[in-house]
Amino acid sequence: MFFKNKRRRDAAVDIPALVRDSGLCHIAFIMDGNGRWATKRSLPREAGHKVGIESFRKIVKYCFNCGIETVTVYAFSTENWSRPKREVDAIMKLLDEYIRTAEDEDEENRTRYIFLGDKTALDEGLAKNCEVLEKLTERYKRTLNIALNYGGRSEIVKAVNECIASGASAVTEEDISKHLYTSLSPDPDLIVRTAGEKRLSNFLMWQSAYSEFYFTDVLWPDITDRDVDDAIIDFSKRKRKFGGIKNA
Ligand code: FPP
Repeated sequence: MFFKNKRRRDAAVDIPALVRDSGLCHIAFIMDGNGRWATKRSLPREAGHKVGIESFRKIVKYCFNCGIETVTVYAFSTENWSRPKREVDAIMKLLDEYIRTAEDEDEENRTRYIFLGDKTALDEGLAKNCEVLEKLTERYKRTLNIALNYGGRSEIVKAVNECIASGASAVTEEDISKHLYTSLSPDPDLIVRTAGEKRLSNFLMWQSAYSEFYFTDVLWPDITDRDVDDAIIDFSKRKRKFGGIKNA
């Protein structure tokens, strides 16, 4: 059968089966484009983040429903502090509101929340709320990693320093992996970045060594389940070799 419209053709695809068969265990999102979404509508940038957090809720839920076990999102980087105070405050407020209600929102109560990043630079109340949520959900397997005050380079430096502090005179790749914020998660299979930029921006630098990348022009507040389907379909067609030879 011939479909003019790619979206119609993809509607027939069994996405959970694709997730399972392609071994997509961990998907990560660089949620870019909130500011542009707002500016296009002559709204303050904060309005983009407000809609962005709704997209985040919807997309994380969809990924879990598709059978993906680990989802990671880049919520706030170590570099994002350089934004105007009003915008930083608005993002922190949105994050705090979300974190305080996340457990109640999770109807099935089976998501483990892990915050990637340095909590010591966060507002004391926010840091405490992150810790409480981590503790409250630590028995669950399905994982949502939220990168907050996160930087990939500083994460690697932290890991090496912790190895040195524990007496190591040399470190292995395994040692470093064990000391990353993501030590409990597998490396991301797929990293999706929205809003047309094609860079990593200090996100999961160590962990992304063999990740597949998917870029879309869609601004994060506009992202839909179908955009995630497109990313998953694209991923399922990739030939991952991990430096070897396919099927060798
Ligand atoms: C990037 O868009 C977005 C951010 C720096 C903030 C993203 C944060 C959220 C969506 C809130 C997430 C909340 C939770 C709980 C995970 P941008 O502002 O850089 O957009 P632009 O490139 O168009 O300016």
